[in-house]
Amino acid sequence: MSFVVTNPAQTDVPVLDVFAQRWSTRIFDATAPLDEEAFASALEAARWAPSASNTQPWRLIVARRGTETHAKVFEALMGFNQAWAGDASALVVFIADTLREDGEPLPWAVYDTGQAAAFFTVQAHAGGLATHQMGGFHRDQISESFGLDARLQPLAVMAVGHLGDPAGASEQIREREATPRTRRPLAETLLTDD
Ligand SMILES: Cc1cc2nc3c(=O)[nH]c(=O)nc-3n(C[C@H](O)[C@H](O)[C@H](O)COP(=O)(O)O)c2cc1C
Repeated sequence: MSFVVTNPAQTDVPVLDVFAQRWSTRIFDATAPLDEEAFASALEAARWAPSASNTQPWRLIVARRGTETHAKVFEALMGFNQAWAGDASALVVFIADTLREDGEPLPWAVYDTGQAAAFFTVQAHAGGLATHQMGGFHRDQISESFGLDARLQPLAVMAVGHLGDPAGASEQIREREATPRTRRPLAETLLTDD
């Protein structure tokens, strides 16, 4: 796999390898079947994410490439994401169930679902899968295609798969892939650090 590029974070202090080495690729192998074992572990990690009062408000649509479900999720992506995300072995829609059983709102549903997505991502990368989350999709189209009740809010679509050959990607995508990843300094994040 000599063609595989990596884009590790240049961290100021050490972090777990998986955090530094995870990045959001746009170059997936369009022929690689999904590593089901690694994928099952990523789903399991999401399952064990913490949530407010253990409400576990996340719901997922798993769409493996080649299925009708995949076609429906792919059609809901915005064009700039359709340009590359269809190559991933699977698309996973992360959805928050925003109401409790009694109809009262679940104020942390979105927070918790993001946390489940983060757990999924870290486990996926540790298992050799690449991921790329997308907010660029038509939420209403997902809701309509899958007959989702209004309480279910699609939040993100995650492309999951195996790194592809940059030689097969457009120049624009290759350039974006090679751009160093950056973050603002931690000091700008810490509003107070007593
Ligand atoms: C909620 C969310 C929505 C995103 N939406 C898109 C998107 O629609 N298209 C895209 O190419 N990248 C999208 N990204 C990827 C981010 O641009 C990327 O995570 C960020 O630039 C940091 O890069 P890194 O993940 O490689 O560290 C999204 C990421 C998240 C978490």
